[in-house]
Amino acid sequence: MLPRPNGAGIIAALDTAEADRAEAWARAVAPHVGLVKVGLELFCAAGPAVVRRLAAHRPVFLDLKFHDIPNTAAGAVRSVCAGSAPPAMLTLHGGGGAAMIEAARRAAEEAAGPARPAILAVTVLTSFTAAALAETGVSGGPTQQVLRLARLALEAGADGLVCSPQEVGRLRDAFGAAPLLVVPGIRPAGSAVGDQARVATPEEAVAAGADWLVVGRPITGAAEPGAAAAAIAASLPR
Ligand code: C5P
Repeated sequence: MLPRPNGAGIIAALDTAEADRAEAWARAVAPHVGLVKVGLELFCAAGPAVVRRLAAHRPVFLDLKFHDIPNTAAGAVRSVCAGSAPPAMLTLHGGGGAAMIEAARRAAEEAAGPARPAILAVTVLTSFTAAALAETGVSGGPTQQVLRLARLALEAGADGLVCSPQEVGRLRDAFGAAPLLVVPGIRPAGSAVGDQARVATPEEAVAAGADWLVVGRPITGAAEPGAAAAAIAASLPR
């Protein structure tokens, strides 16, 4: 597994359907970020080949957010690990339950041994407000649901969690230093929030205990993505 960053690091989310554009971004941001993130848009358009291309620049965080029966989720993890460029991290939805996460962890260990990807559980998407979450039948608000899913996922063998900046401090307090905390919803002061709801600046997320900051549009939407990534990296406390 990838070592924990010394301080906090940046993961650049390369959200595009074009592999060439993703690779150009990866080349530009590589000196300033720890990983590059491949999500559903890019993977559905360009498949495992793009993971291989990007892995030549930085280790890849494969953020496909698996959520299925344990056998199917484990099979997906096995396929990912058996490919020619296995990612350094991958995600499953914590809401998929303990049996799914246990099966995924076992599959990763069997397929890749100690070099296996870190297994991260997504708690509640950073785009959710309390009202939107209630519409899905979850009352009590995002923080309570994040803590519930975090406990379930860590007990089932997840190495870390994906959570919003607003919950990262609560998770650090509750679960200590061990879990990797990967935090999207990062917006440098003055940048557009877009469809995200639970956001914070890079400095706030790091102060609350984040290990990795996932930053997409503030980098990829900038005139110079490399310069934008460098500026965010320079703003992080060392
Ligand atoms: O462009 P932006 O900085 O909002 O990108 C955030 C990235 O993090 C997106 O790729 C999104 O899929 C991902 N993500 C998220 N919330 C989660 C998990 C992943 O925004 N809970």
